Amino acid sequence: MYIKKCSILFCIMMLLFQSGCDIKTTKQNKELESIKEIKIGFTVYRRDDTFIAMIVSNMEEAIKEGEQQENIKITMNIMDAKGSQTVQNDHIDKLIEQGCDVLCVNLVDRTVAATVVDKAKAADIPVVFFNREPVKQDLERWHKVYYVGAKADESGKLEGQIVADVYYKNNGAMDKNGDGKLQYVVLEGEQGHQDALLRTEYAVKTITECGIQMDKLAGDTANWLRSQAETKVNQWLQIYSDTIELILCNNDDMALGAIDAYENADKVLPAIVGIDGTALAIEAMKEGKLLGTVKNDAQKQAELIFTLCYCLATKKDASSKIDFVREKYVFTEYTMITPDKIDMK
Ligand code: GAL
Ligand code: CA
Repeated sequence: MYIKKCSILFCIMMLLFQSGCDIKTTKQNKELESIKEIKIGFTVYRRDDTFIAMIVSNMEEAIKEGEQQENIKITMNIMDAKGSQTVQNDHIDKLIEQGCDVLCVNLVDRTVAATVVDKAKAADIPVVFFNREPVKQDLERWHKVYYVGAKADESGKLEGQIVADVYYKNNGAMDKNGDGKLQYVVLEGEQGHQDALLRTEYAVKTITECGIQMDKLAGDTANWLRSQAETKVNQWLQIYSDTIELILCNNDDMALGAIDAYENADKVLPAIVGIDGTALAIEAMKEGKLLGTVKNDAQKQAELIFTLCYCLATKKDASSKIDFVREKYVFTEYTMITPDKIDMK
């Protein structure tokens, strides 16, 4: 008798619980149905940066596709901080005031993410950082904070591998003075950027591990920029003249700047290698001016940023669509681009 009473009570409780859940899901569905528009607030450190411009245009594409697929209006307000963190902070305030559903932030100064996270948290707006990786502690300040990017060491390894492959393929001809070492210079990205130090470190490490001795002549930052790289390489040409055998570049734009310097000085190009896989770099490679480059997948990164934004804005679970690392990080893979690994037509 007692057991019977208990089981009836249990069934009643289950029914109540079930109907509670039903009410909740219907409520959630209603909320979703009533979402007619998603507003994405998007701020970049510099819109004229070649790779960032690639992310922006791919993001615009992803939004167009998303609007069609989901039958919903999606707007993106893009703000250009033009290299100033103060300006970017003001832009973030504006985007929050305008009532965006999600914030995408390409920090100017990647060490000050905490301020951005706190502003967004106060307004309960999720944040997707991308390309310029905040420190772990800042990402951990709130559960609605994410980072989309790629692993810098991976690109350095592939860049080094391109050099080693060509070195051995041509029986060491890259070592022009035949002293058994590669005299090299490095064009570095912005100081303090995760992609600068690590790309250099892993490129050099990989070449050395492949059994090639390295002899560093010089290294300096050219802030990812073609014009600054050209100026820097002009200076090095004055000092080292024809002794430079290899130029390792933290990105393609700087590799193109190095090529500009040699061409303007009417000098024979040394081995030059870049990272990003921009259209112009691939062109230069096809013309035989660049050994190769490493594709930084702007399209995939933009698609992932978009998917994450969509899920956050519509309160859908993103984990079925995106592979998260430690719940917060989303990484794309780098791939090598060399004359024999691309359609040369
Ligand atoms: C890197 C990219 C560079 C530059 C930089 C900006 O990942 O390779 O070309 O765009 O990001 O943060
Ligand atoms: Ca040498």
